[in-house]
Amino acid sequence: MKDVFSVKLKRRRFVGQKKGGTLLGITLFVCLKKEDNKLKDSTVNFNNLSEDHCHEWFRCLKEILNGFQNRPKSLKVFVNPNSHEREAPHIYYEQVAPLFKLADIQTDVTVTEYKGHALSVLKECELQAFDGVVCVGGDGSISEVAHGLLLKAQMDAGKETDYILTPVRAPVPFGIIPAGHIQPVDICTFSSPSKLLRFGFSAMFAFGARTLALAEKHRWMPPNQRKDFAVIRTLASLKPEECELSFLPLNNPQQCFQENDRMKKDGIKKSDSKDQWHKIEGHFLNVSIMAIPCLCAMAPRGLAPNTRLNNGSLALIVVRNTSRADFIKHLKRYASVKNQFNFPFVETYTAQEVKIQPTLKNGFETEDNVPEGGNYPWNIDGDLMEGALEVHVRVHPQLINLYGVSIDDLDDSKATCGCL
Ligand SMILES: *[C@@H]1O[C@H](CO)[C@@H](O)[C@H](O)[C@H]1NC(C)=O
Ligand SMILES: *[C@@H]1O[C@H](CO)[C@@H](O)[C@H](O)[C@H]1NC(C)=O
Ligand SMILES: *[C@@H]1O[C@H](CO)[C@@H](O)[C@H](O)[C@H]1NC(C)=O
Repeated sequence: MKDVFSVKLKRRRFVGQKKGGTLLGITLFVCLKKEDNKLKDSTVNFNNLSEDHCHEWFRCLKEILNGFQNRPKSLKVFVNPNSHEREAPHIYYEQVAPLFKLADIQTDVTVTEYKGHALSVLKECELQAFDGVVCVGGDGSISEVAHGLLLKAQMDAGKETDYILTPVRAPVPFGIIPAGHIQPVDICTFSSPSKLLRFGFSAMFAFGARTLALAEKHRWMPPNQRKDFAVIRTLASLKPEECELSFLPLNNPQQCFQENDRMKKDGIKKSDSKDQWHKIEGHFLNVSIMAIPCLCAMAPRGLAPNTRLNNGSLALIVVRNTSRADFIKHLKRYASVKNQFNFPFVETYTAQEVKIQPTLKNGFETEDNVPEGGNYPWNIDGDLMEGALEVHVRVHPQLINLYGVSIDDLDDSKATCGCL
């Protein structure tokens, strides 16, 4: 019954006939988990011609379905008309909405009109009215909705612009591909020394951010062309970023969770106990900080196979200065099943917090002293974030719930899911 999302009486009707018809039995609508880990809807028919019998079964089954507490009855839906090659509205209205209707779920749909639209709607939204928030769109809109959902939760808790040490959890689950099951996911806060910048799942600094910054400057190009162009141009003038990078390693996860709990109870502000922080300085070509594996077609094992969706750890991957040829070799490895980190200039760490601060030359640590042409861009879930000099990333274990089944049981060869 956990996989059943609706039950209906089945009747034979003529085309156009809305009511009545000969009762044939009852139909269960179920979702099946297929081999490739996709969910598929299907029906099971029970044939029986007795009205009494069918109504009795219908009533009982309905009662069981209504008893599942965490099934949503009302959802806030965001559809980004520009994503999936403008297929998102089609996908939503043709495939998703009919399933919501079958499952008696009320929806409130916003088709977003500009970047930041979902965020501004969420800020004003009475989340109590909904059991979940669903987003039909690509990486950018998913990240925006996750950020908006958590930001709204902080606002409602009176935490909006403070430096947030322990954010409150998202009040309702988030659906990317709604499926009815729920699983928790880690997410990060990105902060400057004084305030919260945003929530996000993954970040890149140096190459991964410079390519995005360059692509954004050429928005008139078609998206794919723009990306290739930006990668090639950035590779051509490949330059390492000199910065100071420090991280709090995650050695003993158990202890770390307990410590967090204890500190929450005692109201202790986490002392940045100096001896635990590790510092690495130097010239870096590319830095990734990921709370989730980021599986994608380009990187079937994930951009960060060394983390999980919800095990409370950040993967910190740094690429030190090397020749262009070797750097390209490393990037190409992402597409293969070989270990992309098996190079002497690549280092990986498991962390809970990371700080990055560009080393400013000639001693003047003012914002005007940012080198020409670059204000140290960040790529956060595919969104450009500029203007931050020192960034502090902290992972918050399982801060948000996602509709969906765990992909962690999959072995490597099967982990080709298109999201997260
Ligand atoms: C570096 O940049 C590429 C492309 O911009 C990105 O996909 C990759 O994951 C980045 N991280 C590392 C550590 O190479
Ligand atoms: C999370 O999973 C990764 C990959 O299996 C592992 O390296 C890391 O130590 C794990 N973190 C925790 C807190 O268990
Ligand atoms: C980075 O490495 C390249 C190739 O080995 C070298 O030419 C360049 O001078 C190095 N840059 C820095 C800042 O060390």
